[in-house]
Amino acid sequence: METLFTGRHLIRLEAVASTNTFLQEYLKANTLPEGAVVISDQQFDGRGQRGNTWESETGKNLTFSLLWKPTFLPINYQFDLNRITALAIAETLRSVLPDEKVCIKWPNDMLVNEKKIGGVLIENSLRDNQIQHSIVGIGLNVNQEAFRLSARATSVIALTGEETEREPIMEKLFTYLEAWYLKARGGNLDDIRKRFDAELFGLNSRLRFSIGGREQDALVCGTTAEGKLKLEVNGKMQEFDLQAVKWLW
Ligand code: BTN
Repeated sequence: METLFTGRHLIRLEAVASTNTFLQEYLKANTLPEGAVVISDQQFDGRGQRGNTWESETGKNLTFSLLWKPTFLPINYQFDLNRITALAIAETLRSVLPDEKVCIKWPNDMLVNEKKIGGVLIENSLRDNQIQHSIVGIGLNVNQEAFRLSARATSVIALTGEETEREPIMEKLFTYLEAWYLKARGGNLDDIRKRFDAELFGLNSRLRFSIGGREQDALVCGTTAEGKLKLEVNGKMQEFDLQAVKWLW
């Protein structure tokens, strides 16, 4: 492994409800160093954004949670953690799938050729106006061929036709996650925000959304520093959080 701290403390499980929940519970009774990772071959209650289930076949994919302690980051900039995580996954995917089109669908779905290959669920614990710790849950589809819950899911094997070892992908991802985290810690947030926007699915295109329950076309313009989605709707620039807007594929 080429990292200084990411994945150096690695808890490997065969099966667990959710690595995010496990890490959350574990931290109530134990301390762990920054960069600690919990990885499991199976999650029987894997959790996704908006209370969704994260589907992952046993032993086929990467499902893990990483611990960060980003006390340097103001709480209104929590979304920068989502940004660096997505950017690290995008770089990893590009090195594994060099010929495919990788992008980030706001807030943090990872797409390859416009299909979802991975997702991120970050759960922050806030105290005294600081981010005490951040549990960065990542699911990446590697060797799973069929998906029950989503027609728009894909995986490395679906794109290459070959089984790929999960371990080297995990190590590469750790390396990129660490590099992006150190960049954020170094205070280079403007650059991170620009890079994130540049990789956004639909940037500068007019796409269909459900906004306040109403179907509408809107121009995707980027994100605010706090991580809201900037859309031009009926010629007017507006900012939306996750609850206010839904992509209609
Ligand atoms: C999403 O796209 O909705 C987010 C999916 C996040 C899934 C990962 S898998 C590891 C970690 N543990 C969980 O229960 N969820 C995250």
